[in-house]
Amino acid sequence: MNPDHELERLVCFRPLESRVTLPEHKEIFYRLAYFFIVYVMRIVGVTGTPGTGKTTVVRKVCKREGWMHVDLNRWIKERGLYLEYDEYHRSYVADLDTVNKFLGDLRGEIVIIESHLVPFLSPPEPWEGILVLRCRPDILRLRLRNRGMREDKIRENVLCEILGVCTYEAMEVVDRVYEIDNSGRILDAVREVERSVREGVEENIWVDWSKFLEKNEEFMEFISGGEYS
Ligand SMILES: Nc1ncnc2c1ncn2[C@@H]1O[C@H](COP(=O)(O)OP(=O)(O)O)[C@@H](O)[C@H]1O
Ligand SMILES: [Mg+2]
Repeated sequence: MNPDHELERLVCFRPLESRVTLPEHKEIFYRLAYFFIVYVMRIVGVTGTPGTGKTTVVRKVCKREGWMHVDLNRWIKERGLYLEYDEYHRSYVADLDTVNKFLGDLRGEIVIIESHLVPFLSPPEPWEGILVLRCRPDILRLRLRNRGMREDKIRENVLCEILGVCTYEAMEVVDRVYEIDNSGRILDAVREVERSVREGVEENIWVDWSKFLEKNEEFMEFISGGEYS
């Protein structure tokens, strides 16, 4: 064996150059391994109406699994990735071009980006999948009230949840969408997110609030602003 080639193989992992020392099938194996280790990043999106628990659930998932958590709304605020502050909605208007450039710098094996903006992003790799967190409308109303949100904004968000707006937006981007109900125990949703990231999403799974609404006329009054009869 030529000692120069051997040295090069030890010093620097360059399978293409090591053709002299590696049999062909090994070279292919190393090239594939190199590609997967360096380049393949799985990006999962988690969307949902504000208050459905995206940040809480994804934070727990990523802490347990060692995956990377991108709390996009917080990052937009902290890194100034916005165009302006909308006084009426009391929220920042994201600068999507800058946000997308920033996503290009992400590194990690599994990255979970959570935000209601997920369907409007262009990640550096195609979405591995998009999950939608859902929450029963009366529980969502309570969570948003606890946040101190204005009543008209709460009504707007609860209506979005009932209509499944985030799901509709996600379906415009990916073939399969997996809805996870986070009205109950956080740990149940955490496990469900972990399972779906590991195993992938084979079919659409839906959560539907129509049965809840049928039995809760009071709630229809709330949504309609008192004009439902
Ligand atoms: N399964 C759950 N049970 C009870 N409270 C929850 C649950 N999931 C989230 N919460 C609470 O709901 C509120 C909104 O959650 P958050 O993660 O901020 O939602 P999002 O990021 O979707 O806006 C937080 O106060 C959080 O602690
Ligand atoms: Mg959040």
